[in-house]
Amino acid sequence: MPLWSSFALVLAGFVQLARPAVIVPGATWTDTSGNVIQAHGGGFLKVGSTWYWHGEDKAHNSGSFRAVSCYTSTDLATWTRQNDALTPISGTSISSTNIVERPKVIFNQKACYQWYHRRYGAAQVGVATAKSPCGPFTYRSSFKPLGAESRDMGLYQDDDSARTAYLLYASDNNQNFKISRLDADYYNVAAQVNVISGSTLEAPGIIKRNGVYHLFASHTSGWDPNPNKFFTASSLSGTWSSQADIAPSAVRTYFSQNTFDLPLGQNGIYMGDRWRPSLLGSSRYIWLPISWSSGTPKLVQADVWSLDINAGTYSVATGTTYEAENGSIGGSAKVASDGSFSGGKAVGYLGKGGTVTINNVQGAGKAQWVALYYANGDSSWRNTTVSVNGGSTVLVDQPNTGGGHVLLSVPVKLNLNNGANSITIGSNQNNYAADLDKIIVYTQT
Ligand SMILES: *[C@@H]1O[C@H](CO)[C@@H](O)[C@H](O)[C@H]1NC(C)=O
Ligand SMILES: *[C@@H]1O[C@H](CO)[C@@H](O)[C@H](O)[C@H]1NC(C)=O
Repeated sequence: MPLWSSFALVLAGFVQLARPAVIVPGATWTDTSGNVIQAHGGGFLKVGSTWYWHGEDKAHNSGSFRAVSCYTSTDLATWTRQNDALTPISGTSISSTNIVERPKVIFNQKACYQWYHRRYGAAQVGVATAKSPCGPFTYRSSFKPLGAESRDMGLYQDDDSARTAYLLYASDNNQNFKISRLDADYYNVAAQVNVISGSTLEAPGIIKRNGVYHLFASHTSGWDPNPNKFFTASSLSGTWSSQADIAPSAVRTYFSQNTFDLPLGQNGIYMGDRWRPSLLGSSRYIWLPISWSSGTPKLVQADVWSLDINAGTYSVATGTTYEAENGSIGGSAKVASDGSFSGGKAVGYLGKGGTVTINNVQGAGKAQWVALYYANGDSSWRNTTVSVNGGSTVLVDQPNTGGGHVLLSVPVKLNLNNGANSITIGSNQNNYAADLDKIIVYTQT
């Protein structure tokens, strides 16, 4: 038995009575030391009552390998950074000039294994092992599974008594998506069990629900988001159903790409990355509940939500909506009409002298999450300033929405007075902000 198994039993003695922290997709997530969480393309593992999050540390804003980070949590919302699980080794294929991405860790009776992939060019997977979930891991090897390319991989460990594990990967120049069984000690790939030919899928995850395998994956569009899909099958060897959307296709998976999918009772959690290639370390995390209430898995749009792991439930916060067009329009800003906007209207030409001030926003006298619903039809990101009651401005990034009438929301935490507040958008900025449809003010923190 590895040492850390008994350590996990100690942690199980803690009972967390505090209300769980909220999950705010797209916000800047920080760890318990206040540092930005660097765990992109991540994977998740539960040991005892502790969750482990391994991911890519991109604090250097580069694709090159810096570290596989390791964070721990008991509620999936509050994360503490531990030692790095894997760091570059010069002279190997995981040196600091290589690209090491999408780390996924699974437990084997003999050790705790980590798999990662190296990206374009190499198209390999690699294996490293450790006796504890954060390691540090010992590097073993990199290779092309069964002699074929592997990119943007995932891992799935089944619930059979042998805990059979599978590599899920984009192969053959990203054209064919493959599922291959690992050998008993997870050191290598033993046999291909399925291929979805011509599917151009990557970044996969699997949730098994009521005996049905649900495969989630994105298509291949580089760093840009695309409508991620799901497939179902009663066996990992197929046959898989034809692909279907997990979210309205226009929002491109709420500007994110799948990295991992976790069961949550009869629900699930979609864990995605909102990549920002020009500033990789500022890529954000988009986690959303997955609901089967319609019969098929759908992401639940949520600005602020919480989950109860033990009960297998989630709760989406409701806030108070204020339409932008109800505010006082300043300078060159203009009201725009379109059926896609809430109330049929939004405010455009914000920034460069155009502003809107939304008055009588009811606050609770604390720092509160406010979601800005906006449309940015550019191919690049915009940003906007927000100020409360004439105070200093904060800048909020606005990823392109893929169309001038496609809406996304971005969160910002604002200090609101108890009672009425005025929120001004677009002041003191020389660039155009996105069109603003509405804001929603939340009280849950
Ligand atoms: C917008 O303004 C109208 C008219 O003043 C008001 O009835 C409505 O409640 C406001 N709605 C929102 C969401 O701001
Ligand atoms: C805000 O957006 C403008 C226009 O795209 C850009 O030039 C500027 O660098 C952005 N500011 C920040 C701080 O990202």
